[in-house]
Amino acid sequence: MYSQAKVIAGGLAHIPVVIAVFYFILTTFNKRALKFAEEAKTKKPEAKVVDPKKVAVSKAEAPKTEAPKVVKKKHADVPVNIYRPKTPYEGTVIENYSLLKEGAIGRVNHITFDLKDSDPFLNYVEGQSIGIMPAGEDANGKPHKLRLYSIASTRHGDDFNGNTVSLCVRQLQYEKDGETINGVCSTYLCDIKPGDKVKITGPVGKEMLLPDEEDANIVMLATGTGIAPMRAYLRRMFEPTEKEKNKWNFKGKAWLFMGAPKSANLLYEEDLQRYLTDNPDNFKYTKAISREQQNTKGGRMYIQDRVLESANELFNMIEDEKTHIYLCGLKGMEPGIDEAMTKAAEEKGLNWSELRPQLKKAGRWHVETY
Ligand code: FAD
Ligand code: A2P
Repeated sequence: MYSQAKVIAGGLAHIPVVIAVFYFILTTFNKRALKFAEEAKTKKPEAKVVDPKKVAVSKAEAPKTEAPKVVKKKHADVPVNIYRPKTPYEGTVIENYSLLKEGAIGRVNHITFDLKDSDPFLNYVEGQSIGIMPAGEDANGKPHKLRLYSIASTRHGDDFNGNTVSLCVRQLQYEKDGETINGVCSTYLCDIKPGDKVKITGPVGKEMLLPDEEDANIVMLATGTGIAPMRAYLRRMFEPTEKEKNKWNFKGKAWLFMGAPKSANLLYEEDLQRYLTDNPDNFKYTKAISREQQNTKGGRMYIQDRVLESANELFNMIEDEKTHIYLCGLKGMEPGIDEAMTKAAEEKGLNWSELRPQLKKAGRWHVETY
């Protein structure tokens, strides 16, 4: 039996315990609140979050709406794999024409597909690729595997309506045992006609995206069809109607190094000359025409030779952290470019083997070779 005095004494004895528990809860809560406030201060601005489907519906520039408060990975808003090989989109060919002048070597075509009936809409951004599944079967009776092609149009398409995608395709041809072998997909693409249906997958790729900054400098090193993504970048920067659409007011310097075997093989030349005339302070265009020009050693002139000639100016640009470098085209050019960059860096007292990984880590060195 408890007396009243004992109950009161017992109750009083619990007070320190209650105070201790209360104090513990209060300090823990305060610490968390402080940590949260600290994190909020140091956190970078939120990534822009755009639902790819919504971009698709608008079929135009991603809307500049207020970003919801969600932390997302870099480029999380860039659409990928809207269509996969098991369920490709069947796009209709709108046009397919040669990009070469008389006397050129080989076959290179500009091909445009209609995307307007895709649902979900097949939207993409500059620097991405799409997959093409050629019609027919391989030697084992299986459907041909897809081949990737860099997108040569901006997201607004060549007609600025945001309903098309364009490619720049070289037909692969080589000799084997006295016979001419034609590449499966590149021949299929160069031969297709307006109205034909083509199985398309993608888009894919985040390696070759342009930076958002309008004052970035863009150095482009391209051989042959490696011009495809660069054509999209340059249209985004300099094509008047495209600029009206994208509202991206490029203020930096763009420098294209272009390698082609002959003058007649230079791709999109008229457009590039027009951009030069209209934007003399923002665009520089350096050509290496391998079978018409010679390097200092008397060999074929390649873009790496041009890089060496411009070492000083180029590395002044690279030292600026707003400069991005894009390399696209023949895989074989990579060692030559590396060698040229090593020599060019040395002339500036820099070490390319240290610098290149730093540029890569900073997201300023972009390579897509094949
Ligand atoms: P295939 O029939 O697949 O033949 C290719 C095969 O032929 C090779 O794998 C090799 O085994 C053999 N072969 C090739 N050359 C020789 C040779 N000289 N001697 C002996 N064997 C040989 N291409 C473009 O034209 N434009 C682009 O914009 C473009 N972008 C690309 C982007 C990416 C990310 C990648 C990965 C590739 C890109 N390509 C591009 C290349 C394209 O994907 C195909 O590889 C190319 O079109 C050849 O495909 P094909 O089906 O015609 O050849
Ligand atoms: P070449 O073929 O004269 O040796 P295309 O794709 O239209 O053939 O253009 C590719 C261009 O790249 C050509 O001028 C080609 O020169 C050149 N090229 C070939 N090999 C290399 C290499 N290893 N480094 C740089 N450029 C190269």
